[in-house]
Amino acid sequence: MVNPRGGRLAAGRARALGLPTRGTTAPNRLRRVDRWLADAAGPLLRGSADPLVVDLGFGSSPVTTVELYQRLRVVCPRVRVVGLELDLARVAAARPAARPPGLTFDHGGFGLVAQAGRPVLIRALNVLRQYPEPAVAGAWLTMTGLLAPGGLLVEGTCDELGRRACWFGRPAGTAAPPWLAAVGRIPAGPTLTLAAHLPSLRQPSELAERLPKTLITRNVPGENVHRLFEALDHAWARAAARAVFSPRQRWIAAVGDLRMQGFPIRGDVRRWRLGELTVDWPLPAPR
Ligand SMILES: C[S@@+](CC[C@H](N)C(=O)[O-])C[C@H]1O[C@@H](n2cnc3c(N)ncnc32)[C@H](O)[C@@H]1O
Repeated sequence: MVNPRGGRLAAGRARALGLPTRGTTAPNRLRRVDRWLADAAGPLLRGSADPLVVDLGFGSSPVTTVELYQRLRVVCPRVRVVGLELDLARVAAARPAARPPGLTFDHGGFGLVAQAGRPVLIRALNVLRQYPEPAVAGAWLTMTGLLAPGGLLVEGTCDELGRRACWFGRPAGTAAPPWLAAVGRIPAGPTLTLAAHLPSLRQPSELAERLPKTLITRNVPGENVHRLFEALDHAWARAAARAVFSPRQRWIAAVGDLRMQGFPIRGDVRRWRLGELTVDWPLPAPR
């Protein structure tokens, strides 16, 4: 198997690490996921003896890793962020931006996260979208298996400007430890979050273009993700009158409507007003 920048990788090694892909990135592109992470994982980071965060696949510039570090330092000054990349040239180019011990860059892939330590958080944004779908489950398993107990993998996709983003939150193991459940932020099971820049959103299903790899082809009748978008579009239409106040008020009403219908929506107006919706995933069967 050919590694475009580093010669040949043995097939097994390539499977374990993954393969370098296009490095597209941009400043502030991941602000929505970082804002969610800072809220969801702040208590987890503060409660950890070694609050290590891995940013897997930082791309052609280290800018979004630097931003992640700056944002998480606000909620946990002891945080340690390691940016990992499979592309050695990108690692070398990122190193001048390092601020050890808090922010460092290294060569690594899915299975090499462990070299950095046992992370409480892994952010892998716009990485798996470029892989074939059958590779995704294995990559999730590898990464969640390397997390510290109670840790969280955030894996998803966004557009170039970061105005539309969708990501999975996948906790290590099956349940969060009791102290985290008491904090009430990290979900006990997997979640899907949709986040949008509301002034430019015509209807919620526009977000479907940014679904993570495993859902992008499933937005068809009969599938959960289609049911979610259909219900959200209808709720958005019903909340049209709220648009005179603001798109934010309209989104809050639409998400509240979904919760009233029985969708397992997490959080409250504090999160919804940011244009977010987090739902337990997979959705339970309709009642
Ligand atoms: C599109 S860029 C994403 C950059 C940044 N995360 C963002 O969202 O803007 C994807 C990067 O992930 C890297 N990559 C792909 N598979 C990887 C893996 N298994 N481990 C580490 N990096 C990987 C690619 O080399 C590429 O630079």
